[in-house]
Amino acid sequence: MTHTGFLNPLKVGVAGIGAIGRTVCQALTETPGLEGLILHRFADQKSHPDLHVPQVDFSALAQECDLIVECLPAHQVPELAKEAFQYNRDLIIISSAALLLTPDILEWQKACSSRIFIPSGALAGLDGVKAMREMGIESALISSFKPPKGFEGAPYIVQEKIDLSALTEKTLLFSGNALDASQAFPANVNVAATLSLAGIGPKRTQVEVWADPETVSNTHQITVKTQFSTLTSRIENMPDPANPKSSVLAARSIIATLRERNQSVVVG
Ligand SMILES: NC(=O)c1ccc[n+]([C@@H]2O[C@H](COP(=O)([O-])OP(=O)(O)OC[C@H]3O[C@@H](n4cnc5c(N)ncnc54)[C@H](O)[C@@H]3O)[C@@H](O)[C@H]2O)c1
Repeated sequence: MTHTGFLNPLKVGVAGIGAIGRTVCQALTETPGLEGLILHRFADQKSHPDLHVPQVDFSALAQECDLIVECLPAHQVPELAKEAFQYNRDLIIISSAALLLTPDILEWQKACSSRIFIPSGALAGLDGVKAMREMGIESALISSFKPPKGFEGAPYIVQEKIDLSALTEKTLLFSGNALDASQAFPANVNVAATLSLAGIGPKRTQVEVWADPETVSNTHQITVKTQFSTLTSRIENMPDPANPKSSVLAARSIIATLRERNQSVVVG
């Protein structure tokens, strides 16, 4: 059951029409779509005539839409956020590593009435993490396992001159905190950034990044401990055929976040 007057649906603007943005646009435009929400504008480097709504720049996107959905590379998020905040628009951020790479975004947000929503993305278990934070989290670890090609082009791989095609067994590529991980693998560790933002912050959240030539899935396992509870959650996601660095689940977490805006009963 919903409670919004849908005569005036919320106008949604999607920034970035890649693997994730395209799936979000489909959910907004198919029948039945997402009640109370319509795709109003989009922004992308390439043209997408099949979307049948105007393509605009970040400034017009923020000016003309009620709610902005970010599906860009992480380094583009600050520019989009500035525009969204200028017009006090709510912003759904899927490239959560951007909030660690550019912490100013969270400072800018404090000066406006925009809200930031960070979907669970490719991760599972954040409901438990949020409740555990209320009792004091002692430690948080995330281990991510992906096929080697999922790490192609990452700054750490380039800098360390790692030959991903030469890996023959499961290999620990990186171990450190979420802050360092987001700089080393900005397109791969959004899950670590999201866990850190839900839990004990980027400096205290530990991250392991594994390349596994024998797997076809992107797997994320978290272990979070408090004095009273220990949470272990593991999710195996199929890579998105349109972008093997992303998981099919990530786009669905945005759709779930959008759907919740008009639900009168919200679980989790
Ligand atoms: N939170 C999570 O768990 C999670 C999971 C998977 C992916 N992600 C992140 O989500 C983001 C989107 O992922 P994707 O798989 O859709 O990526 P993608 O590469 O398929 O798509 C990115 C899109 O952004 C567009 N773009 C790039 N620069 C632009 C600019 N200056 N202006 C307008 N458009 C621009 C590209 O044209 C492309 O269409 C990435 O940052 C990725 O790391 C997060």
